[in-house]
Amino acid sequence: MNLELEGKVALVTGGSRGLGRAIALKLAEEGCGLAICARGEEALLEVAEEIRGMGRPVYYRSLDVTESQSVDSFVEQTAQELGGLDILVNNVGGNRRKEFADTEDRDWQEIFDVNFNSHVRFSRAAIPHLRRRPSGVILFVASIFGREAGGPGLSIYNTTKSALISLAKIMALELAPEGIRVNSIAPGSIRFPGGSWDRRCQEDPEAMAEFIGVNLPLGRFGTAEELADVVTFLASSRASLITGACLNVDGGQSRSLI
Ligand SMILES: NC(=O)c1ccc[n+]([C@@H]2O[C@H](COP(=O)([O-])OP(=O)(O)OC[C@H]3O[C@@H](n4cnc5c(N)ncnc54)[C@H](OP(=O)(O)O)[C@@H]3O)[C@@H](O)[C@H]2O)c1
Repeated sequence: MNLELEGKVALVTGGSRGLGRAIALKLAEEGCGLAICARGEEALLEVAEEIRGMGRPVYYRSLDVTESQSVDSFVEQTAQELGGLDILVNNVGGNRRKEFADTEDRDWQEIFDVNFNSHVRFSRAAIPHLRRRPSGVILFVASIFGREAGGPGLSIYNTTKSALISLAKIMALELAPEGIRVNSIAPGSIRFPGGSWDRRCQEDPEAMAEFIGVNLPLGRFGTAEELADVVTFLASSRASLITGACLNVDGGQSRSLI
């Protein structure tokens, strides 16, 4: 299958490690030029070097996605440096586990800023550039815990991910006439070196073996590469009929019927 991504320009937020890194590398492998951002410069530089080594143009900047001016100027500079923008992957996200009754305004504001408001800002900044292309793509990395209940302690995370799925649907309706597709992706538990599941597996292997037995029908965690494959397909013209969708990439982990 030819994904027809050769020569396209993609921006991946949080492209320095984990899922964002895997997505950026997969898009580069398929021929895209890449813009990546994260706060930590060292890991960002390493990924940029990998992309350059694949012979693809790359632009990177160390920034905090909660700072609106940095976001706007990064998107503008991406379009200038790489000659436009075709694909935006809103990937950055974080979690703060707390019983709802213990949460404070600050908790909600901080996690909403990272998980939701930053993606709103990136998307608004990207739309004028996507409009100049024959087709454009916006993707949101949500979670299965945006489609169904994640459990106690996850009220903030769950709410931000549900909000992303909801936002993607409405944006898809508004932008469809302009040839811009908008979708969200709902990963299940994905393990990669240095990630949160990897840490938990090393800290408490017995509890994690039990977690796998109860929650993961395939008997294993997902990999960042498996998630990146699906994101890359959704970003490609092979997915031209998919817009306004939320796609599970979870090995059957989620229990929701929809
Ligand atoms: N891993 C899973 O099992 C899983 C499951 C469901 C959903 N997800 C979602 O998938 C996405 C990626 O998850 P992940 O596990 O790959 O996360 P991760 O390992 O924590 O990586 C997050 C990336 O975002 C960057 N980042 C975080 N906060 C930032 C900020 N304020 N400004 C700029 N960059 C920032 C990080 O770099 P710096 O720290 O250097 O800034 C890093 O590049 C998230 O939205 C997460 O909720 C993950």
